[in-house]
Amino acid sequence: AKLHQLAVSKGKLYFGTATDNPELTDTAYDAILDDGTMFGQITPGNSMKWDATEPQQGVFSWTGADQIVNLAKGNGQILRGHNCVWYNQLPSWVSSGSFTAAQLTSIIQNHCSTLVGHYKGQIYSWDVVNEPFNDDGTWRSDVFYNTLGTSYVQIALEAARSADPDAKLYINEYNIEYAGAKATSLLNLVESLKAASVPLDGIGFQSHFIVGEVPTGLQTQLSTFAAQGVEVAITELDIRMTLPSTPALLAQQKTDYTNVIKACAFVEACVGMTIWDWTDKYSWVPSTFSGQGAACPWDENFVRKPAYDGIAIGL
Ligand code: XIL
Repeated sequence: AKLHQLAVSKGKLYFGTATDNPELTDTAYDAILDDGTMFGQITPGNSMKWDATEPQQGVFSWTGADQIVNLAKGNGQILRGHNCVWYNQLPSWVSSGSFTAAQLTSIIQNHCSTLVGHYKGQIYSWDVVNEPFNDDGTWRSDVFYNTLGTSYVQIALEAARSADPDAKLYINEYNIEYAGAKATSLLNLVESLKAASVPLDGIGFQSHFIVGEVPTGLQTQLSTFAAQGVEVAITELDIRMTLPSTPALLAQQKTDYTNVIKACAFVEACVGMTIWDWTDKYSWVPSTFSGQGAACPWDENFVRKPAYDGIAIGL
């Protein structure tokens, strides 16, 4: 059986992958991406981000995002929307604008409701807020926090809820996969949003890991967040290594993938897992982490690595 089928047989909603528009011209890539039994869920890696969807104020552009949404729908794959509000990949009119609180509130409301509304009824879950915290647990100092304080989270979530009442609304974050200051801050935020009846349905664990360093507390973290009344998901899984890859590193990577997948499999509230693209050919890792790569379950020639079997074992 293929990975999505295995995930469904374990009671999960999906096993999925990120993809990105430039890759879609690669027909050998598409042949695997389009297999809905392998990938039951798709996340656009870039084309729903603010710089892509609202490059100028009030001017929306759907070309890239529509292409991936239509592809997924054609393949019978469910979609995660990524994302509404993030400090990165922001157009300069947002990041360098100087706005009053009232102005930025309506900018966020307009962006989130137009984006989420454009795909109303077509998206399983939205990363409404991405990466709000620093690793030390303080709020990230970006245009949103600096202008609105913590209230921007509520503003974005409420706009998304109104635009698509059926979509699951997530906060997505990294380095919350182990206990620490960042996870504690996010947990406190979840608690306070829930207490204030702000719409929040899920927490995304990005899970960009390093071979040999997958946090042993991952399953506990998933359960701890779920206990606050949210679902959870592994949203951007990859497990990188210092290149070149060796048989020993690939064997450790296989074990590491199994452990991540098992952590989600064992937690009922963990609805699914998404890898941050399935092939090393199109992974974001080498261009972001110098000297590192080979983070995906398929190699650059679309040959399955030991990590593929590691995932299957976990399911
Ligand atoms: C990455 C994309 O994969 C790259 O193509 C892009 O250049 C930078 O962003 N956390 C996230 C994702 O939430 O949006 C990021 O995606 C990876 C880290």
